[in-house]
Amino acid sequence: MEIIRSAEEMQSRALALKRSGKRIAFVPTMGYLHEGHASLLREGRKQADVLVLSIFVNPTQFGAGEDLDAYPRDLERDERIAKEAGADLLYFPTPQQMYPEGFSTWVNVEGLTETLCGASRPGHFRGVTTVVAKLFGIVQPDVAFFGSKDFQQLAVIRRMTADLNLPVEIVGMPIVREVDGLALSSRNVYLSSSERSQALALVGAIRKACAAFREGQRDSEKIARSVAGRIGREPAASIDYIRICNDSSLREMAQADETSVLLLAVRVGKTRLIDNQYLCQEV
Ligand code: PAJ
Repeated sequence: MEIIRSAEEMQSRALALKRSGKRIAFVPTMGYLHEGHASLLREGRKQADVLVLSIFVNPTQFGAGEDLDAYPRDLERDERIAKEAGADLLYFPTPQQMYPEGFSTWVNVEGLTETLCGASRPGHFRGVTTVVAKLFGIVQPDVAFFGSKDFQQLAVIRRMTADLNLPVEIVGMPIVREVDGLALSSRNVYLSSSERSQALALVGAIRKACAAFREGQRDSEKIARSVAGRIGREPAASIDYIRICNDSSLREMAQADETSVLLLAVRVGKTRLIDNQYLCQEV
């Protein structure tokens, strides 16, 4: 596996690969890799000739007072995981290269970004879509992989790719969880051991909601109330949102159906965790 730090080099390598008929798979990340990232890499390995991973803690998607400086980093470990998962090229740019003096173009997806995480983190998705559009231009992927752990992000990126006619196939991948159900996240490292066990309330509440749906409950407000009740039992937990939304419009649904996704954002101590699940499926 080769590490590339310059955008020009990454792009010229990608264009040369494409000229020689190679199919490029791409997995963008912010590093501190875990099994969730590795699952995207392994799928990318299967679907293309060349697998590119990017690691970039993108400053423009962090708000004031968020964890940009504290965001966990471990490049050596990331290199090992990426190599094991079959990455050929690791693109590792600096913030200065991504956002040089005079940078002034932003990509903003309207409609899908004002709710849920977009409401709690103003400007977050503008940073995500801008950096992903830039990375697509630099890496020239045929196919790119995103986790449905970030359900809204995946919907926003699909929208951007379609709206801008970007020639990239977007593949959504299932959430990878710990054996006890906690969704893997680079931010789980912030949790103390008491917070780690309280964080299980998220998946516990999701399981309960899916069971209620299976037993015929369709009243979103009742489902959300029971989720809030379960999470509210944990002293370190404070709820940002609990919503039942349509999977493509992300609009709230009063009556749940097969298209309904339960989406949660909960702060456990200082750590903001997100999780989600189709109500009609099992975790
Ligand atoms: P990051 O949080 O590092 O996540 C990179 C990719 O891994 C995303 O597509 C995310 O959904 C996926 N992922 C994270 N946890 C997962 C899990 N438990 N199971 C499956 N997939 C998981 O998301 C970002 O970085 C950034 O916003 C980025 C898209 C790179 C733009 O900066």
